[in-house]
Amino acid sequence: MPDIRRVVVTGLDTIEVRSEAPAALGPGMVRVRTVTIGVCGSDTHAVHGTHPLIPFPYFPGHEVTGVVTELGAGVSTVGLGERVTVEPTLPCWNCKQCRQGQENLCENLEFFGCGYEQGGMADEFVVRADRLHHIPDALDDLQAALIEPLSTPVHAGRICGPLRDKAIAILGCGTIGLLMLAVARYEGARAVVMTDPLAAKRAMAMARGADATVDSTDPEVVRLVRDALGESADVVFDCVAIGPTIAAAVAMATKGGTVAIVGVPAKDVVIPVITVQDKQIRIQGCATYVPQDYARAIEMLCAGAVTADLITAEFPLAQSGEAFAASAGGEEVKVLIRP
Ligand SMILES: NC(=O)c1ccc[n+]([C@@H]2O[C@H](COP(=O)([O-])OP(=O)(O)OC[C@H]3O[C@@H](n4cnc5c(N)ncnc54)[C@H](O)[C@@H]3O)[C@@H](O)[C@H]2O)c1
Ligand SMILES: [Zn+2]
Ligand SMILES: [Zn+2]
Repeated sequence: MPDIRRVVVTGLDTIEVRSEAPAALGPGMVRVRTVTIGVCGSDTHAVHGTHPLIPFPYFPGHEVTGVVTELGAGVSTVGLGERVTVEPTLPCWNCKQCRQGQENLCENLEFFGCGYEQGGMADEFVVRADRLHHIPDALDDLQAALIEPLSTPVHAGRICGPLRDKAIAILGCGTIGLLMLAVARYEGARAVVMTDPLAAKRAMAMARGADATVDSTDPEVVRLVRDALGESADVVFDCVAIGPTIAAAVAMATKGGTVAIVGVPAKDVVIPVITVQDKQIRIQGCATYVPQDYARAIEMLCAGAVTADLITAEFPLAQSGEAFAASAGGEEVKVLIRP
């Protein structure tokens, strides 16, 4: 088999495209020709050395879709030529959490494309068959590229829900924040108010159905969000998770409300626990997804609740460095690589 290209982040802001032999195909594994790879906020954190859990060298690519080209021994759940997307969590299936259907919280969790020996930012990749989801024909390649990113807000909305008739604040209008907006709308939230420092991102939120947006740099951000909602927020989805957003989230939550930590913090930040205790606020960590969240994300995409214009830039694999720079630049929403 001819060599394939693979993106490797060898050190801080150092992105290489290497040539290497295709990986061996063990039993239960599937070889997939890559069609799309999304660049995630977590990827850009990792490249800049600000992801708490990803060391170098880093083999990126956890938001991947492709076409099955080879089946390892014993694989019967997918077929040759099938369009698939990866659920990148690699659970052990043996621990307490795995046995309870919470494999996103596996005690021995590894993560394809995040601190793992392989990722999907390559011409092809090899992955466990149990990590693949079928892509329905109704979704084109760009829509399919959004299944994984959308599954994170779907999961967050589900564990903090029900969202029906609730007042929702979403901090951050990046990919995850905008997809969180789509989830809140799909699940019937009464009002959704969002924050971001960038006017262009706030405009995108308005165009996608936010009731109002607030400049996060405004010292009055908490009051302005509350005014726009007409009440304190039942659920605040912090899709940034830095000191100022956590403080704002706790301050704008209603008594008995929920603050969902969806963003991956670069380091620990102070949580105002006096307010958390006094207002009986629930702090809810949100870690990826499980298959029912993938199913809901696919349902939402098929229903047109999320459109592929969230993908604002595309690069070939050879220009992965440019793709990372574009993703970190703040102007783009979802940046895609297409080998
Ligand atoms: N919990 C999970 O399982 C999970 C999964 C995927 C991504 N994430 C995390 O979600 C976060 C968002 O990812 P993304 O792809 O949307 O990133 P992104 O870079 O596209 O979006 C971040 C947005 O936050 C805005 N922002 C910056 N400072 C802000 C502030 N003080 N107040 C409000 N907005 C502010 C930025 O302008 C940008 O629009 C990242 O931390 C990422 O690692 C978590
Ligand atoms: Zn991601
Ligand atoms: Zn496990």
